[in-house]
Amino acid sequence: MPFMMEGMASWDPGQYNRFAEERARPFHELVARIPTTAAVAVADVGCGPGNMTATLAERWPDAAVLGLDSSPDMIAAAERFKSPQLRFQLADASTWRPQRGSLDVIVANASLQWVDDHETLLPAWAAALDDGGTLAFQVPIAGYDPGFAAIAQRPHWAERLRGAAAVTGPRSASPVLDAEEYVRLLSAAGLTVDAWQTTYYHVLPGDDPVFEWFKGTGLRPYLDALDDAEAFAEEVRVELRARFPREPFGTILPFPRLFVVAHRA
Ligand SMILES: C[S@@+](CC[C@H](N)C(=O)[O-])C[C@H]1O[C@@H](n2cnc3c(N)ncnc32)[C@H](O)[C@@H]1O
Repeated sequence: MPFMMEGMASWDPGQYNRFAEERARPFHELVARIPTTAAVAVADVGCGPGNMTATLAERWPDAAVLGLDSSPDMIAAAERFKSPQLRFQLADASTWRPQRGSLDVIVANASLQWVDDHETLLPAWAAALDDGGTLAFQVPIAGYDPGFAAIAQRPHWAERLRGAAAVTGPRSASPVLDAEEYVRLLSAAGLTVDAWQTTYYHVLPGDDPVFEWFKGTGLRPYLDALDDAEAFAEEVRVELRARFPREPFGTILPFPRLFVVAHRA
């Protein structure tokens, strides 16, 4: 699968936090559906800059909360939330294998689209849940693409950008499964599954806000793959201005997301 790991260190917490409010909403809507009341051990996988992880410590005040991320920059940014209850650690989700029955809650918000082989990973995480525990994750739906894939396939980019689509772009290039596949996979792992999809219609302020949104996430595999990223970035800006026109009130960005909350009774 053409999945880029090289760019992992280039996550920029400042850029990511530019749309903190819009990005927080799916997290809160995901966590609101977690039925686990008492928890002693909680993990937030792909925790990013830690602001969302801190809310997990408030939701489960008696739990030790661990934020994991593969980006040293994100972990460094998250450290400011560190407390006796809340710790952060550099770790790659694709190899993270918590001990059987050792966790009450695993949250992965907007991170699993960067991680391959959910068919192997998720049953292993399900086995790490204690009775009453919950695995909750949210991902952009597979195949979601604001238009980057077509630009990357233009003849002057195609050679250098081959394999750079992971999070947005062709469905076949995404590690994200369909909702039905997650329901089957996690039911087979002994969990009760609640899955749903929602399209957010974010209204973004400022100039080129859709470009600025994805510069911090979905465009990174493309930008990281190029020495002269600015020329590609400018083509993307022009395309996105046409696709997502600025209106008097702002720019509408439709964003379809898949939610899965799987509970061990
Ligand atoms: C879109 S951000 C989401 C951050 C946070 N969960 C939130 O809701 O704001 C995706 C995060 O996943 C992390 N990530 C990507 N691949 C990862 C991997 N293989 N293991 C752990 N973290 C990963 C990135 O470093 C980034 O911080």
